[in-house]
Amino acid sequence: MFERKSGIILIAGIGFFALAFLSNAVVPVLMYQHMPEKSVKELINGNLRYQFEDLAQRFPEAFEKAYGQPPADPEQASTWYNDHCESALKLGHQIYVGEGCWHCHSQFVRPVSNEDRRWGPVSKSWEYQNELQRPVMFGTRRVGPDLCREGGRRSSDWQAVHFFNPEALSVGSPMPRYPWLFDGAPDKPTIRGLALLTYIQWLGSWHETYPYYEDYIPVPIKTASKTE
Ligand code: HEC
Repeated sequence: MFERKSGIILIAGIGFFALAFLSNAVVPVLMYQHMPEKSVKELINGNLRYQFEDLAQRFPEAFEKAYGQPPADPEQASTWYNDHCESALKLGHQIYVGEGCWHCHSQFVRPVSNEDRRWGPVSKSWEYQNELQRPVMFGTRRVGPDLCREGGRRSSDWQAVHFFNPEALSVGSPMPRYPWLFDGAPDKPTIRGLALLTYIQWLGSWHETYPYYEDYIPVPIKTASKTE
């Protein structure tokens, strides 16, 4: 059988296809089917709420234009923020997919090459068990850095200026500009701009070490003038 053409086709073509389907599709489904998938509402936690309310502080005009005023009653205001945060997260995810950010950015810290030293804890399967990872945003290329621990790494001001014009902050950056997410200036994000900022600040917010890069606050520099 192995000397004949049909035998080779059977093993190489159909056989390996079946094996790949079994190992890459059937086995993972069986392994993780018991894990409940989180809805977007369930993804909102204190870290993300902080970031969303922070947008209201940084871009008050743009925020009010997009969402209006929060109710005066604190309890109603809390629900109001949660609801808008949820819709912003959903829209932000759509924009991330639509703008093709995943062409250049991965969302997966691999357990190789000391990646965890650069980006934080290695990714675990439970992190992808939610509505915003359908389809998963692992990405296949890394023209830019991995983003799955990006939340809280930089301020939303930085992120807004960077989306408006990456080269303003990173000389020679190949990342495209996204001026259509703004009403003319980086401090005037549209509802879509605010949504993408929310989504970026969400990345990694589920992790106990969020924001991961807070560890990177530099130790105080000893000045030469201090004598003992
Ligand atoms: C053509 C490839 C490309 C595309 C498309 C792209 N980026 Fe980037 N991105 C880069 C590169 C390269 C860098 C690193 C240089 C820099 O900071 O601009 C970067 C940096 C970033 C950073 C800063 C990471 C950090 O903390 O240093 C964020 C956040 C980011 N991109 C988000 C996005 C989002 C969101 C989109 C889609 C709207 C996007 N990128 C589209 C290439 C790309």
